[in-house]
Amino acid sequence: MYEKLFEPVKINGMVVPNRLVFEPMGNYYAELNGDASQRDCDFYAARGAGGCGLVITEVCSVDRIAGRGDARNLVLDNDEAIPSFRKMAEATQATGAKFAVEIYHPGCQGVPPLCVDGVTVSPSGQPSKLTGAPTRALEHDEVLDIIEEFIAAGVRVWKSGADAVELHCAHGYLLCQFLSPYTNHRDDEFGGSLENRAEIVRRIICGIRERTSPEFPIIVRLTADEYMRMVGIEDGITLDMAVEYCKLFEQWGADAIDVSAGNYETMNWAWEPVGFDEGWKSVNGKTIAAAVDIPVIACSVVRHPETAMDLIDGGVAMVGSARQFFADPDWGNKVREGADKLIRPCISCMRCIESLMAAHEDPFSPMVCSVNPEAGRECDLKPLEKDGDGRKVVVVGSGPAGLEAARVLGLRGFEVVVLEKAAEVGGQLVFAAKPPKKWRLDWLIRYYEDVLADLPVELRRGVEATADVIAAEAPVAVIWAAGSVPVKPGSIAGLESELVLTPPEAIMAEPPLTGEKVVVVGSGMTGIEVAEMLSSKQGCHVDLYEMVDEIGPGIFFQNMIDIMSRLGQTDTTLNPGHKLLKVEGNVATFEKADGEQVEASFDHLVLSLGMRPTAAPAWTSELGVPVIIAGDSEKVGRIQEAVTGGYDAARSVK
Ligand SMILES: Cc1cc2nc3c(=O)[nH]c(=O)nc-3n(C[C@H](O)[C@H](O)[C@H](O)COP(=O)(O)O)c2cc1C
Repeated sequence: MYEKLFEPVKINGMVVPNRLVFEPMGNYYAELNGDASQRDCDFYAARGAGGCGLVITEVCSVDRIAGRGDARNLVLDNDEAIPSFRKMAEATQATGAKFAVEIYHPGCQGVPPLCVDGVTVSPSGQPSKLTGAPTRALEHDEVLDIIEEFIAAGVRVWKSGADAVELHCAHGYLLCQFLSPYTNHRDDEFGGSLENRAEIVRRIICGIRERTSPEFPIIVRLTADEYMRMVGIEDGITLDMAVEYCKLFEQWGADAIDVSAGNYETMNWAWEPVGFDEGWKSVNGKTIAAAVDIPVIACSVVRHPETAMDLIDGGVAMVGSARQFFADPDWGNKVREGADKLIRPCISCMRCIESLMAAHEDPFSPMVCSVNPEAGRECDLKPLEKDGDGRKVVVVGSGPAGLEAARVLGLRGFEVVVLEKAAEVGGQLVFAAKPPKKWRLDWLIRYYEDVLADLPVELRRGVEATADVIAAEAPVAVIWAAGSVPVKPGSIAGLESELVLTPPEAIMAEPPLTGEKVVVVGSGMTGIEVAEMLSSKQGCHVDLYEMVDEIGPGIFFQNMIDIMSRLGQTDTTLNPGHKLLKVEGNVATFEKADGEQVEASFDHLVLSLGMRPTAAPAWTSELGVPVIIAGDSEKVGRIQEAVTGGYDAARSVK
C-alpha cells in the first residue's frame, strides 16, 4: 500500500534507499566546541536504523564567532572538526541510510552573547521582531567572507565523507534573510531584484560545486512561504517567489530542494503547534515539485503514511519530518512492515522546541520528547533486556506513566496487570483529548492500546487497586502510577458547591454545559483549553480569571499564540490579576492587586488551579515487594515527565 515510500531516489551521485527524510532538527547535543558528539552519532544512527533513507543534521554553523545559534549546535568552521563529523556520518551510513549536514548562519537570529560585541549580523540591519537581538547590516566585504565560510564548510562536509550538504536558506536565518524582500533592503549586488537577493546562494552553490565533486549533492532548504500576511505584514517570501528561486537554484546546480516554511516571526508556520492539521502545507512542496526537475523533499506535519503518500502522489520525491521521526525513529520500518498502527505519534505538543530553547539558558538542558523517552538518550540507554521471565508486575493507573511502564515491562518479558479504576484507559489523556485540536492525544491512547495488545499486558478497566487485589496477583513489584487529582484549596470558601467543577468534570459533564455562563478560574493550559472548549464548541459565555498579571503563565509562547488565536474568536473575557476569594451561591468574589473586590456570577465555575499527586497509600509499604512511584504520583508534571517516569520506573524493576 505504501510501497512507493520505499523506492530509492537519486539525488545527483547519491542514491537514497527510500523516500523518507529525517529533517534537520536542532538538538544541541554537540560538544561545546561544536564538534559532533557520541550523542549525535547515536541519535542520527537511530533514525537511519529506523527507516529514514536520508538523515540530515541539525543546523551546523559555518562561523562560530558571528554565526552560532546556540552554545551547543554543531560547528564546522575548521578542519579539526572533520574527524568528529566523519564519525557521525559513518555511524548513520552503517545503518544503510545516507547522511547530510545542514550548514547555516543564523544572521540576526543568532545569540548575541555568542557574537562579536554582542551584536548579530543581517543583510540590512533589521532585527528579528521575535528575538529583538541587536543586529547590524553586513558590509559588502563581510558578505564575501560569509560566502567563503559557507563554501569552506561545504567542502568540509564533503571531506568528512557525508553523502550530501544542505544549505539552510529557510526559517529566517541569514540566507533566508537575503532571499526575503522583508529583510533584504540592500542596494549592492546582493539586494534589489529577486536574482540579486539570491546571488549569495548562487555563489555558495557554485563555490561548493567547484571545490568538491560534480556528483556531490547540494540540497537547498528554503522557506516556500514566510506567511508574513498571517501576522499582518504584506511582505516576505511567497510561494510564487519561492518557485522562481527554486528554478534559479536548479539552474545554478542545486541537486534537490527541501521545502519548509515560516521564519522566527511566523514560527507557528515553521514548526506547528496543535492548531495546524496534518498535511496543511503540502501545497508548497507539490507546487515547487511541479516547477523544477530536481527532486523535492517536503515536510507538512507528516504523521501518518497516508499524508506522506499524498505528497508523493502530488509529485514530491521525498517526504520529511523532524518531530515524527524524533517521536518514533522506527516509523519507516513500521510502515514498511505494515505495522503502522504501532507508530508512536508526535502529538505536536512543542515540548521538543520548548526544551531546545531552554538550552539557551542552560547548554546542558537536554531536548526531550513527550512521547519518546529514549529520544536524545540513545547513547545513554542500553537496549532493553528480556529478563522478565514471565514474572508479574502490577501497574496501578493507566495514564501515560502507567501505560509506558506497562509497555517497557511487557517488552522485557514481564507479565503485566494494569489496574485502572475508570472505565477507559488513558488517565488524564482521556479528558485532555476533548478540547478543540487536542485529538492527537487520542492517537496516543490508541497507540498504547495497540502496542500493549501485542505484549503480555492485561488492561483491567473499572478495577480499584486495593491491597487484596494486588496481593492476589502475587507480583514481584508494583508500579504506582495513579496520577493526580485537581487542587481545591481549603482556604477558599464555597468550593464544595455542586456548581463548582474540576476541569475533567466540566469537560465530561453529562449533559454537557451548553449555552451557560461559566467562570473558569486559573489560566494554565488546562484552564484555557476548558475555556476554549466551552465557548467554541458548547456555546458558553466564559469569563476566564487568573491570579497573576498575565494570562497563561508558564505556557510556551508558540502554544499560547496558537490557542489564543482561537480563543480570541470566542465569547470569552480574560481577567488577569484576579485572586479568587470565595464562592457563594452562583457568585464568585475576586480580589484585584489594588485590593478592590469584584464579583462574577455564573451557572458553573470551573476551578483549574493545578493538580496534586495521588500518593501511594500506606498499605502499599506492607505488600512486601518493591513499590516504585511514577508519573504524577511522584511529581505532578506534563506528558513528557509522565512517560519518561513510567519508562524509567519500568527499567528499574529488578
Ligand atoms: C525542535 C526543532 C528543531 C528544529 N531545528 C531545525 C534545524 O536545525 N534546521 C532546520 O532546517 N529545521 C529545523 N526544524 C524544522 C524541522 O526540520 C521541520 O521543518 C519542522 O519541524 C516541521 O516538520 P515536522 O512537523 O515534521 O517536525 C526544527 C524543528 C523543531 C521542532
